[in-house]
Amino acid sequence: MKAIGIVGSPRKGGNTEILTNHTLKAIEEEGIDTEIIRLAGLDIRPCNACMVCKKEERCPIDDDLWPLYTQMKAAEAIILASPVYFGSATATIKALMDRAGYIALNNGRLFAGKVGGPLVIARRAGQNFTFAQLMYWFHISGFYMPGSTYWNVVFGREKGEVNNDEEGLTTAWNFGKNIALLVKKLNT
Ligand SMILES: Cc1cc2nc3c(=O)[nH]c(=O)nc-3n(C[C@H](O)[C@H](O)[C@H](O)COP(=O)(O)O)c2cc1C
Repeated sequence: MKAIGIVGSPRKGGNTEILTNHTLKAIEEEGIDTEIIRLAGLDIRPCNACMVCKKEERCPIDDDLWPLYTQMKAAEAIILASPVYFGSATATIKALMDRAGYIALNNGRLFAGKVGGPLVIARRAGQNFTFAQLMYWFHISGFYMPGSTYWNVVFGREKGEVNNDEEGLTTAWNFGKNIALLVKKLNT
């Protein structure tokens, strides 16, 4: 059983990465393998609506998407974590959601039955909108999405500031525990 946390920030070692590691630690404590995947520095272009993935499980755009898609397919749980950029998720994570999501949907709903959910971080505003934006993807893809003790929205601006948001960290931790519980219930 494996849970992956995909970090949609272009800033290495930033708040999104810290928060994702925190949640993965809660999951790992429950005996589930975890892996963090950083989108920083990767080339993930937007979907160009060529519709090739409607005919076969393939994306003809030659960039870094395919290994990520393969890892997503293999995982029992997926966390998508994004900082808020102008009130929404980053363009990179959105490109990943559009393309990986469409390939999976068009080839037998391959993500259906997995466990997952979003983590969102921002300096001041836009967390709830971005949280909803990411939840739409999990919902239409057929994930089981556990809750937590609050919405998974956390505050932080400069690298490391996320560590000052105690309630946010607790929420992300409890979310990880619920992910682990659900993964085990569904897979043992
Ligand atoms: C281009 C850009 C746009 C941003 N837009 C918002 C925003 O709309 N609302 C907000 O509260 N913070 C915004 N921020 C701040 C980031 O969400 C915040 O610094 C976050 O902690 C960055 O996460 P990271 O350290 O993982 O990169 C923005 C930052 C950047 C670089």
